[in-house]
Amino acid sequence: MKKTGLLLAALALVVSMNAQKKSSVSRVAGGEGSTINKEIYGQFAEHLGSCIYGGLWVGKDSKIPNTQGYRNDVLQALRDIKIPVMRWPGGCFADEYHWMDGIGPQENRPRMVNNNWGGTVEDNSFGTHEFLNLCELLGCEPYVSMNVGSGSVEETAKWVEYMTAKDGPMAKLRKQNGREQPWKVKYIGVGNESWGCGGNMRIEYYTDLYRRYATYCREYSGNKLFKIASGATDYDYNWTEVAMKQIGNQMKGLSLHYYTCYTWEGSKGSATNFDENQYYWAVAKCSTGLKEVLDKHVEIMDRYDAKGQVKLLVDEWGTWWDEEPGSIRGHLYQQNSMRDAMVAAFSLNLFHQYTKRVSMTNIAQVANVLQSMVLTKDDKMVLTPTYYVFKMYVPNMEAENIPVTVNCDTFTAENERDKEHPRQSPYVSVSASRAKDGTVNVNLANADLKNANEVTVDLGSIGSTIQNALVLTSSDMKDHNTFDKPGKVKPQPFKDVQIKDGKIIVKMPKMSIVTFSVR
Ligand code: AHR
Repeated sequence: MKKTGLLLAALALVVSMNAQKKSSVSRVAGGEGSTINKEIYGQFAEHLGSCIYGGLWVGKDSKIPNTQGYRNDVLQALRDIKIPVMRWPGGCFADEYHWMDGIGPQENRPRMVNNNWGGTVEDNSFGTHEFLNLCELLGCEPYVSMNVGSGSVEETAKWVEYMTAKDGPMAKLRKQNGREQPWKVKYIGVGNESWGCGGNMRIEYYTDLYRRYATYCREYSGNKLFKIASGATDYDYNWTEVAMKQIGNQMKGLSLHYYTCYTWEGSKGSATNFDENQYYWAVAKCSTGLKEVLDKHVEIMDRYDAKGQVKLLVDEWGTWWDEEPGSIRGHLYQQNSMRDAMVAAFSLNLFHQYTKRVSMTNIAQVANVLQSMVLTKDDKMVLTPTYYVFKMYVPNMEAENIPVTVNCDTFTAENERDKEHPRQSPYVSVSASRAKDGTVNVNLANADLKNANEVTVDLGSIGSTIQNALVLTSSDMKDHNTFDKPGKVKPQPFKDVQIKDGKIIVKMPKMSIVTFSVR
């Protein structure tokens, strides 16, 4: 008996470890849906490492195929995810950037040291015209961050005038530099991380500065500004409290930065070599962790602004791991695995639930920095697993959120360096939305590394035809795309979804992200 018994016990263990779990999803009774602004899918491009230079911009004379200096491959990739808004020029870089250095003939532009990011010398060849023209090419809104840390009110005022005025001295200068018509610029950030790299200010001091700088950001030629105050990081609820009290409705938006990294001191852990606990911890930080942070900031904002007129913008978020071995220090170049894709799916599903207050988020960053959409090397480009999540989620833009609740198993993950915030999280994350034509979009993520999960989704009355079902999965949580193997992780058509008695049954593989529409 002994050998057979042992064998059976081992087999039972394997079977139970790889069992198919069951979960259910239902519409929240009475829950009011709200529109998922397309800006929830916003991007961030900073003068940092090879995000701009090499990532977006190679210059007109480059051998790399380009349109007016912008890489064709990256342009196409960004168009395919319908990039709605791009934040620029930083980040920390914004508070050392002097915009007048980045206009006029390229050969006359002065150089500067990028003190925040590796001390690289910046030649200013990508400036205001290059950024705003890129936004026009992509059809996205520009979001320009002003220099409050080391700039002046006059510099800020003139920049807004230069970009948006039809006539006047700044418009004349712009025209001399080749651009006749003003651009439309809606989003203006007044400083970045003013509590840190943006000037190490106290919130009491910053709120006065905000009011002063924002006063002189004028609206020209019918251009309407959406002014955004530099907000808190993660758990700094006092920053939000004082900003709401002191700035109130002089701002349209208040930002929040929320990164997923194990620690700010020492190693943040490898992007491609991590254990299961680290995987689960990252996922949990973007489900219950992110939820707790959003709830608390929103609760404070609600107290001062019950109508939800001041929006919360998570204008930097994403994973932050150790830089790739061999890459330039300070350039924050990291790989992107299935773990990052899972973080993206859990975060986006959550952002959908907050669209009454959270009107924009900007993942950091669009190319070659932190949790990127694309990685480039010379003339090669790879699309990351995170990119594919953004692509799969496109149908949710401007659709009405359908609030849902998920009933499933949970896991717990610990971070030795962050004992203050223990993490428990559901394995399954779901969001749903209804497009203007009535199509219902469903987005599911199963973070479980061992078990498949049969998810029953009950959204009430829906159509009967499943369309565009896709799955993003791989055999290992560390799997990622490289320049040699660019197609290792990419979405595949998905068949295991059906409608039975008005309910949707989705047989999700372990560690998978599934999206589809119902008509
Ligand atoms: O995204 C990298 C940096 O992270 C940004 O420059 C800064 O705002 C944040 O600390």
